[in-house]
Amino acid sequence: KIIVLDFGSQYNQLITRRIREFGIYSELLSHKLTAAQIKEMDPKGIILSGGPNSVYDEDAFKVDPEIFNLGIPVLGICYGMQLMSNELGGKVESAENKEYGKADIHVNDENAVLFHGLPQDQSVWMSHGDLVTKAPEGFEVVAKSQNCPIASIADYDRKLFGLQFHPEVRNTIYGNDILRHFAFDACGAKSNWTMDDFIKMQVEKIKEEVGDKKVILGLSGGVDSSVTAALLNKAIGDQLTCIFVDHGLLRKNEAQQVMDALGKGLGVNIIKVDAAKRFLGKLEGVSDPEKKRKIIGAEFIEVFNEEALKLKDVDFLAQGTLYTDVIESGTDTAKTIKSHHNVGGLPEDMHFKLIEPLRTLFKDETRELGEKLGIPHELVWRQPFPGPGLGIRVIGEITEDKLEIVRDSDAILREVIAQHGLDKEIWQYFTVLPGIRSVGVMGDGRTYDYTIGIRAVTSIDGMTADFAQIPWDVLQEISVRIVNEVAHVNRVVYDITSKPPATIEWE
Ligand code: XMP
Repeated sequence: KIIVLDFGSQYNQLITRRIREFGIYSELLSHKLTAAQIKEMDPKGIILSGGPNSVYDEDAFKVDPEIFNLGIPVLGICYGMQLMSNELGGKVESAENKEYGKADIHVNDENAVLFHGLPQDQSVWMSHGDLVTKAPEGFEVVAKSQNCPIASIADYDRKLFGLQFHPEVRNTIYGNDILRHFAFDACGAKSNWTMDDFIKMQVEKIKEEVGDKKVILGLSGGVDSSVTAALLNKAIGDQLTCIFVDHGLLRKNEAQQVMDALGKGLGVNIIKVDAAKRFLGKLEGVSDPEKKRKIIGAEFIEVFNEEALKLKDVDFLAQGTLYTDVIESGTDTAKTIKSHHNVGGLPEDMHFKLIEPLRTLFKDETRELGEKLGIPHELVWRQPFPGPGLGIRVIGEITEDKLEIVRDSDAILREVIAQHGLDKEIWQYFTVLPGIRSVGVMGDGRTYDYTIGIRAVTSIDGMTADFAQIPWDVLQEISVRIVNEVAHVNRVVYDITSKPPATIEWE
């Protein structure tokens, strides 16, 4: 494996991703690890990530300088390179021309390990305020750019490398090749990390940890908890009990699909609690979106707890925590620290031990794992769906009638989008019921009925989004079908705002 020490760069997760894409296991770890702790882990290579600090900041993140003497290849990226240079006797200064964005570098030695076989002139992504102005003794200057005379350094004897630019960002055209050269040529790592290995490893680990004890898991119907259930089921079978709280705010047939795929299909032991009435009761008369969210969240935990307390002799609680959740809890770079409450809300007297078998996986790796474990493709690759579900797609007060309108119109939208093969392109798409009514004419009669809003966006991560440019004829087909097939809808509108300024959901 190759470890990445985190100095707080916004790109730090990407480095781990890229290395894993080579079939080499990689983890993002705290920069506070000591050389001895790292030696114990026996990694093939160490990458020092970028970061927002200057090495001269009083509270700058440090690295144990002994790591440069372990004989393990080290690649310092941006801040990582400056830190390495500073520790080993080079010189780092504040740049006169700070560089952010695209830059052109020239590689001085085309046979340099990291640049082997690549064009000597290439485009890279820079983002830095400081510069290395003198390489430490024993290092060669391998590449330069106009504003950065020392853009890459290497000490081939000690296998220490530095890049002032970010190879993990796609705008660095040959970034992937450079990382590949580091991983395979400099570190001699082998490509042997596959999903099958992961499953084997985890099954063993879970068996050993759980022994003959029992485990419970709260199934939400989402991808993370479903895949966790499938993996635990493979490892310990009936020692696992899943509690599936159906709050009645799922999409059409969704609860059934999950039961069929996991329960019938994989033989997972599931207790399904039909709590729709209970949730609706709690939500009666509530129209404020944040209140609705709080009620749904609290009720979910309440129902789960009630069921969990009925089970006897349970020692473990399993959760579908992913790597991104773990990283968000921080690896000691203050800026990224957010608290991640895994067991939030569980009563004190339930002393469960936590099992989180997906905590090293990214979302798309989780999906791949789900498919390997036999969960159907459509379930595993579903679009994002919010925890409060349709509860925030009926704007204002929720009633069963309104839920049905959203559920039915949403099912039609999804069907038409899939028929036209647009489901891969559009990141998220759904219908909302704003609750306004307007005049229409159907047959010979005047109607006064609801409007349905369609929301469809393209996005990478949901932080920003553009409305999807769905062809007119597809929109027309969606509109015609919704008005004809869903009672009490006489008008369909398309939301053409981006995020920002709008959000993806309407409330
Ligand atoms: P917004 O509406 O904030 O949505 O642009 C961004 C992404 O987050 C989802 N979303 C939620 N997910 N609980 C969730 O689990 C929520 O309360 C919630 N609100 C929004 C939304 O579907 C989109 O993918």
